[in-house]
Amino acid sequence: MPADKMALGVCYYPEHWPQSRWADDARRMAEAGLSRVRIGEFAWSRIEPQPGQFDWQWLDDAIETLAQAGLSIILGTPTATPPKWLVDLMPDMLALDREGRTRGFGSRRHYCFSHAGYRKQAARITRALAQRYGQHAAVAAWQTDNEYGCHDTVLSYSAAARGRFRPWLAQRYGTIEALNQAWGNVFWSMEYRSFDEVELPNLTVTEANPAHWLAFRRFSSDQVLEFDRLQSDILRACSPGRDVVHNAMGFFTDYDHHQLGAQLDVLGWDSYPLGFLEMFRFSDADKLAYARQGHPDIAAFHHDLYRGCTKGGRWWVLEQQPGPVNWARHNPAPMPGMVRLWTLEAMAHGAELTSYFRWRQAPFAQEQMHAGLLRPDGTPAPALAEVVQAADEIDALGAAGNAVKQAALVFAYESEWVTNIQPQGQGLSALWAAFDCYSALRKLGLNVDIIAPGTPLDDYGLVAVPCHPIASAEFAAQLERFAGQIIIGPRSGSKTADFAIAEGLPPGALRSIFNGTVSKSESLRPGLVHQAKGWEAAGWLDHIETAASPEMVADDGTIASYRQGRVRYLAAWPQGALIDELTARAAQDAGLALMALPEGMRIRRSGRYVFAFNYGTVQCSVPAELTGKLVLGERILAPGAVVVLTA
Ligand code: GAL
Repeated sequence: MPADKMALGVCYYPEHWPQSRWADDARRMAEAGLSRVRIGEFAWSRIEPQPGQFDWQWLDDAIETLAQAGLSIILGTPTATPPKWLVDLMPDMLALDREGRTRGFGSRRHYCFSHAGYRKQAARITRALAQRYGQHAAVAAWQTDNEYGCHDTVLSYSAAARGRFRPWLAQRYGTIEALNQAWGNVFWSMEYRSFDEVELPNLTVTEANPAHWLAFRRFSSDQVLEFDRLQSDILRACSPGRDVVHNAMGFFTDYDHHQLGAQLDVLGWDSYPLGFLEMFRFSDADKLAYARQGHPDIAAFHHDLYRGCTKGGRWWVLEQQPGPVNWARHNPAPMPGMVRLWTLEAMAHGAELTSYFRWRQAPFAQEQMHAGLLRPDGTPAPALAEVVQAADEIDALGAAGNAVKQAALVFAYESEWVTNIQPQGQGLSALWAAFDCYSALRKLGLNVDIIAPGTPLDDYGLVAVPCHPIASAEFAAQLERFAGQIIIGPRSGSKTADFAIAEGLPPGALRSIFNGTVSKSESLRPGLVHQAKGWEAAGWLDHIETAASPEMVADDGTIASYRQGRVRYLAAWPQGALIDELTARAAQDAGLALMALPEGMRIRRSGRYVFAFNYGTVQCSVPAELTGKLVLGERILAPGAVVVLTA
C-alpha cells in the first residue's frame, strides 16, 4: 500500500504536436494537478527514422520541457510499434494468425514474441533509450512496450514460435516418450517420435489435443515474460532506482500476469470501464443501465486483481478513460462525475497513480474519435474539470491507508486457459466465474483480494476458489491449514497439470479438504435450470458422491451445493443469485460484517477511510452500519457520486 497519496498523471504524445505547444501543454498539466506524464511508447519511427540513425533532439527537448514544468516522466519503450523499415528488413518478424495468415504492418503490435531478430532489435532500441535517459533526474519510471497481447497478439503461429516451442517442450518433458505419455498421444495415433515432429496446435482438422493447446498457451505466456525480461534487465542495468512497469488490459488472460508482475516493480493497467462494458459479456440490461458509468465491478475487479500480481502489491492505472473511446461497439460519454469517481475508486483500492489517456484528442489517424482531457483544438474537454477536482480532493484526503483484509478470491491464469481450451459448455469461463463471484462478494460490502494460489491466506475470513481446474497438492494443503470459510467452485481440482482427468476423479487434490468424488459432470444450455426459491442452478452441474450435507437444494432435489464443516462445494456454475446466496452464507459463517448495499453502490475500506461509490442511475444512501465521520460528499449519493467516511 502506498504510504503517500495517489499521484495523477497523463499520457502525452509530444510527437503528435508542434514543439511550440509543448511548454504550454506541460504548464497546463501541472496546473491541473497532474505530476506524472507518460510518453514515448509509440515513437520509434521518430526516434530512429532510418536504421541506426537516431534523432534524439526532439525527445531531449520534450523531456526537458516536461521536466521544467515539474512533471516526472514515465518513459515507454517503443517496441509495440516497430517501424516499416524494420519490418522490411526482416519480414518474418511478423506474427501469423491462427489461420496461418501474416499479420501485416499498418497499425501496431505487428511482431512475434518468439522472433530472435526482433528480440535483438527490441533490446537494441531499449538500450539506446535507457543509455540516453536512464540517469535523467526527471525519468521516474519505464514502461516496457505497450499492452502485451492487445489485438490478440500473444499467440503467434509463426515458424519462429514453432522453432522455440519444440525446445520448450523438450525442456519441460525431457523425452518425447514422456510428452506422449503426459498428453495421451496414443489417442488418435498422435504419437511423436521426436520433438521436431511437434507442430503448433492450429490448422488441425478438428480440435487438437487439449494438452497440446495448454502447453502452447503456457509456452506463449513464457514468450511474453522472456520478451519483457529482455527489456527490464536492460532498463534496470542502465537506469537503476527507477520503477519498471507494464500496462495490462481488462479481462485479458493470454499471458500469466502473476508471473509478469513478479518480474516488474509495478503492474499497471488500462481502465476503460465503458468500453469494457460494451465489449464483454454483460447482459443487455446491464449494458443499458450502466452505459455511462460502467458496471460497478469492472474497474474494482482489475484493481483488486492486479494489486495481487506484484510482490509488493504495487499497481498503477496507466490509462484511465476520460470520455468516449473509439474502439467499442458503441462509445457513449461517461455520466458527469464518473471520471472523478473512477479516480477516487482507484485511490480507494490502493493505486499509487492514476494516469489519464490522453492529454489532447488527436485529430488524425485511428484514434481521432477517442476523447482526451483536451479537445483536439486544445480547449478543455469535460473530463479536465473532474481531474482538477479529484486532484484537490486527493490532496485533502492524503494517503488511503492499509486496506482491511476480508475475503480472498483465488484466480490462476491457467484456469482460464483450461476452460477456454475445453469449455465443455458454451461460454463457460474461469475468468467470468471469478468475476461473478467477486461481484457477489462486493455486493455484500466486502473488501476482496484476488490472489494467485499459494499467496498467504492469513487474516482472511473467507477464501473463494470459483473455478480452479488444476489444483496442486500444495494448494490443497494450504487450504487445509486455512482456518476460515472456504468455497470451492465446480471443476476445481478436475484436471492434472497436463490436462487429463485428475487421478481418483475430481476434485483431485482438493479431496483432502472436501471428502467427495465427482461421479459425473454435465453442462446445461441456457434455460435448462434447476430452480429453488430465489436462485437457480445453471450452466454446469457436478454430481457428487459424498457424505457431506447438501446445503442448497433445488425444488426438484438437485443439489447445488454441499457443506462439510467450513468447506462448501458449489456444484453448479458460480453465477447469479446462487453465488450471491452462497457467498452470503459463507461470509456470515466467517463472521464478516455484511451489508445489503443499494443497487449500484460499492464500498471499499481503505484503512483510513470507507469509500462509497454510486454507480447506479438513481440516488441512494450510505447504509446505516457505516457510522464514520463524513470527510467528503453526502450520505445521500446522486448517481456518479462518491462519499468518504472515516474508518
Ligand atoms: C489502449 C492503448 C492505448 C490506446 C487506448 C485507447 O488499449 O494502450 O495506446 O490505444 O487503448 O483507448
